[in-house]
Amino acid sequence: MIPFVDLKAQYASIKPEVDKAILGVLESCEFTLGSEVAAFEKEFAAYSGAGVGVGVNTGTSAIHLALLAADVGPGDEVITVPFTFVATVAAIHYTGAKTVFVDIDPRTFTMDPALLESAITERTKAIIPVHLYGQPADMDPILDIARRHDLVVIEDACQAHGAEYKGRRAGSMGDIGCFSFYPGKNLGAYGEGGMAVTNNADYARTIRMLRDWGAETKYHHVLKGYNFRLEGLQGAVLRVKLRHLEAWTEARRAHAARYDREFAGTGVPTPHVPPGVRHVYHIYAIRTSDRTTLQRTLQDQGIHTGIHYPFPVHLLPAYADLGYRAGAFRHSEQAANETLSLPMFAELAPSQCSQVADAVVRAMKPRT
Ligand SMILES: Cc1ncc(COP(=O)(O)O)c(C=O)c1O
Repeated sequence: MIPFVDLKAQYASIKPEVDKAILGVLESCEFTLGSEVAAFEKEFAAYSGAGVGVGVNTGTSAIHLALLAADVGPGDEVITVPFTFVATVAAIHYTGAKTVFVDIDPRTFTMDPALLESAITERTKAIIPVHLYGQPADMDPILDIARRHDLVVIEDACQAHGAEYKGRRAGSMGDIGCFSFYPGKNLGAYGEGGMAVTNNADYARTIRMLRDWGAETKYHHVLKGYNFRLEGLQGAVLRVKLRHLEAWTEARRAHAARYDREFAGTGVPTPHVPPGVRHVYHIYAIRTSDRTTLQRTLQDQGIHTGIHYPFPVHLLPAYADLGYRAGAFRHSEQAANETLSLPMFAELAPSQCSQVADAVVRAMKPRT
């Protein structure tokens, strides 16, 4: 059996360090925020190339509070892509703003900057490019358009810890970068977690207040805030794991390179990585026009795969009120029908990668 991810294997590799960190929190009783969270904020902001980090309870909250800090609210429009996890759009919805979609570039699965300008109206306040699968969106043209139209750029870097675009780290390029530490992420908590990183001291201060009931000092609530605090246990676990993240990321990249090599010349469409990009392969997705059969064939051989994501957000019942119809975003719709995510985690053995690739090639052969 080859799992899609293997969190137990990861824990086994770092058990003494993690156990010690958890015991430390049990003894300090700093269960919410506290010194471990404060240290992790500094360390992860530095890792991401940003000045300040504010730990929150989820990646969704990071995006939500980033939008609020940028003064996004009812009557405003926020532009993002429909080929993302639903949380990107949920966070916009929570602010009362309206989501406006632009399609993806079908080669990279990220926002197509060529479509951005025509989606901007006088109500547009922010753009959320999503660094899907661990590959940064094409940020230079996006930032250039944002600057010309005086728009805030909030990076959804929830899948892109340590990814790079032309030497800059994901999360540090726009005004605010948002990360998720959901357990299955490249850097995953033992529970929920998230962080907003920024170089803007005002945004950081506002997000810091909003995550903790809008308080400037204890019981002095200057904003209508939330209980979105990051837990001390998660901060301690994440600090341990951050020390291993580069090694894990390089292992993922090596597995991706092996998949690429094994698929070369076979007709299996592999991820497209533009020059200057460091893809961190949260997801390694191939494309096939007969995904159901391929997934079932692999499953029968004990190879677990995933689909990220089977529905673009504009076609989800929950967001039907946005008024988009099938056919509105051709590339997102096609990606949702065709992408299949292969097993990808640091502890995957090279022989398992080869076994997966071999099974995929054999299964797809009659159709390629
Ligand atoms: C692209 C994207 N955006 C936002 C989120 C939301 O993060 P969380 O699950 O931590 O709220 C996730 C992860 O789940 C994600 O993959």
